[in-house]
Amino acid sequence: MFYMSKILVSGGAGFIGSNLVDKLVELGHQVVVIDSLFSGKKEYLNQSATFYQLDIFSPEVSTIFAEEKFDYVYHLAAQIDVRKSVEDPIFDNQVNILGGLNILSNCQKYKVKKIMFASSGGAIYGFPKEIPTPETYPPYPVSPYGINKLSFEKYLNYYYRVLGQEYVALRLANVYGPRQYKGGEAGVISIFVDNAVNGKKSYIYGDGFQTRDYIYVDDVVNAFISAMTDGVIGEFNIGTGVEKNLLDIILAIENALDQKVEVEYLEPKMGEERRSCLDFSRVQDAIGWKPQIDFNQGIKKTINWSKNNK
Ligand SMILES: NC(=O)c1ccc[n+]([C@@H]2O[C@H](COP(=O)([O-])OP(=O)(O)OC[C@H]3O[C@@H](n4cnc5c(N)ncnc54)[C@H](O)[C@@H]3O)[C@@H](O)[C@H]2O)c1
Repeated sequence: MFYMSKILVSGGAGFIGSNLVDKLVELGHQVVVIDSLFSGKKEYLNQSATFYQLDIFSPEVSTIFAEEKFDYVYHLAAQIDVRKSVEDPIFDNQVNILGGLNILSNCQKYKVKKIMFASSGGAIYGFPKEIPTPETYPPYPVSPYGINKLSFEKYLNYYYRVLGQEYVALRLANVYGPRQYKGGEAGVISIFVDNAVNGKKSYIYGDGFQTRDYIYVDDVVNAFISAMTDGVIGEFNIGTGVEKNLLDIILAIENALDQKVEVEYLEPKMGEERRSCLDFSRVQDAIGWKPQIDFNQGIKKTINWSKNNK
């Protein structure tokens, strides 16, 4: 059990961050959010959380650490668009490395007990030959986004071994659920669900058999909460260990809505990963975490949210 703590969530107005903040508040913690609202939304912010609209690279971050005296820090704020990281690797580095280091160095300076970081199991392993992929698989990312997620893990490890700053890096699979941004690259489930609920067509690039490991946001939030546990340090995959392809998603949506979904097939995207799926046994052994929400249940919950948030 965790006693009431003062907790910072960077990126707490975003998809995963706002769901995490809601849970932390529900558990009785005092929560502070730093978010630039680059992609996050003010309406997702929990009313009980203190909010600073600020870039994570700002020098004011240090003042907030000095005044608020955090016990724990969740670092989720990020540039999350893989394609954008390819187009503009310098911007990705500024947010995901320099911004992250501003948060991390303040954790160490102001004696935060532990920092929990949202890393990416989908992006850091590159094109792994071992599926489901364990943490021991050699990571060779194939995007600046993946390189920066992996590099930040190395900074965390360095701060821990040399300076004593405790950390957990959760290598998240493809997260889906309420409040996920519907446009752009992120979140194919959210895009397909939104299209289906609004009677619009969905597009599949390639044959639709490319797989991912889709994990419901509440399971990810629970993993982040458990990561606070004393003595748990290091990198952990957070996924389901089950591959789903795009046709599985369409079928699950059709079953949940009891209606046909319109789909059009387009040319495959260059360089797209064919398969991705994470082995979560290390985190299960360390903290007993495992996914609780099954795929069809998660799709239904996402549809319900989408219907109420058109
Ligand atoms: N969604 C996924 O499938 C997934 C998978 C692996 C890892 N992650 C990681 O999880 C974290 C949360 O992702 P999400 O899906 O909730 O995305 P999101 O875009 O909804 O959340 C990111 C938040 O960070 C904020 N932000 C961005 N740049 C900022 C800056 N410079 N200063 C302050 N705030 C800034 C945004 O406004 C937003 O609220 C990210 O670190 C992401 O890389 C997500």
